[in-house]
Amino acid sequence: MSVLTATAFIDTHALLHNYHVIKEKAPSSQILTVLKANAYGHGLIDIAKSLSNTDIENNIIANAFGVARIEEALALRNKGITQKIVLLEGFFSTDDIAIIVANKLSVVIHNEQQLAAILSAKIHTPINVWLKIDTGMHRLGINPDEFTYFYQQLKNSDNVENSIILMSHLACADDIHDDMTLSQLSCFNQLTAHTEEAKSLANSAAICAWPTTHFDWVRPGIMLYGISPMKAQSAQSQLLKPVMTLQSSVIAIRQINQGDAIGYGSAWVSDKNTTIAVVAIGYGDGYPRHAENGTPVLINNRIVPLVGRVSMDMIMIDLGEQTSDKIGDVVTLWGKGLPIEKVAECASTIAYELICNITNRVKKITLS
Ligand SMILES: Cc1ncc(COP(=O)(O)O)c(C=O)c1O
Repeated sequence: MSVLTATAFIDTHALLHNYHVIKEKAPSSQILTVLKANAYGHGLIDIAKSLSNTDIENNIIANAFGVARIEEALALRNKGITQKIVLLEGFFSTDDIAIIVANKLSVVIHNEQQLAAILSAKIHTPINVWLKIDTGMHRLGINPDEFTYFYQQLKNSDNVENSIILMSHLACADDIHDDMTLSQLSCFNQLTAHTEEAKSLANSAAICAWPTTHFDWVRPGIMLYGISPMKAQSAQSQLLKPVMTLQSSVIAIRQINQGDAIGYGSAWVSDKNTTIAVVAIGYGDGYPRHAENGTPVLINNRIVPLVGRVSMDMIMIDLGEQTSDKIGDVVTLWGKGLPIEKVAECASTIAYELICNITNRVKKITLS
């Protein structure tokens, strides 16, 4: 006997398909694909390698990669990734500057401390800098009234490459009715209109819905993985295909009677005689503990509801009274056949969190 335990199947064809969707939506922009947090839980190195192979026209795909931590950038360099790698939050220690130069990393500069550190560094090779402006999100970025000062300081420094990329980040691009994006765009345009520098503003949602934000570099994350970046719009409607399909299998089948309670806390009580399957996946694998009763699960081409509390290694699903499902049958938790956005909604979270939370014990199998 051998049954599948929690496994994330990573579909390389879907990944490349999504990449081409991005290219079609932003044909005049270069693409920085965001690979932070282990490529949104999909596996940093495998995803980077898939995006570094040559395509049919022999073009190297993926112009650059974006990461959040220097360790992620070094992991990529150590595996032979040669593309531009941008540290999206810049560096957190002056000591990192030597490592940045040695590994040819690009850095976002978003505060006074980083500016001072880069200007005074004793280095012989200039660094590629992305200057981040806060146009309204109020997370990272210099204030608009600091722009001229930062820009001139960087421009005059031998430690900084001559071409600086000007960037900002959008707070509400996932909502096509929210004026915030236009307000941020207008602020960005006013500040940067008189420079010749390359510009970057668009995340996935802006790539899909706000073409005037595309500029020279787009920065897709979530859509690359086949997940909808838009509020109330499916991935399918954006022509995206899910890259990760999370599956496991049935390890027990139980007949229960009306009135029987299931799982920890006896939190779900059956209102009928039914068949319950126990599936080998739980919050120890990254399946969300807060998934509510009724969260959809796919088995043998039909959707059935999750019942009872999610435990560390198991969940229960209600198969109904008459069923031919059996131990070993494969169950899909999300991905092909079951949009992750629906599962996220039932767990009061977003798909970004679900994919990032996949734990190490989940096997990853790349389908190419
Ligand atoms: C600066 C920056 N650009 C782009 C992205 C990609 O965003 P998304 O995954 O929504 O496309 C992120 C992700 O948070 C980011 O921090």
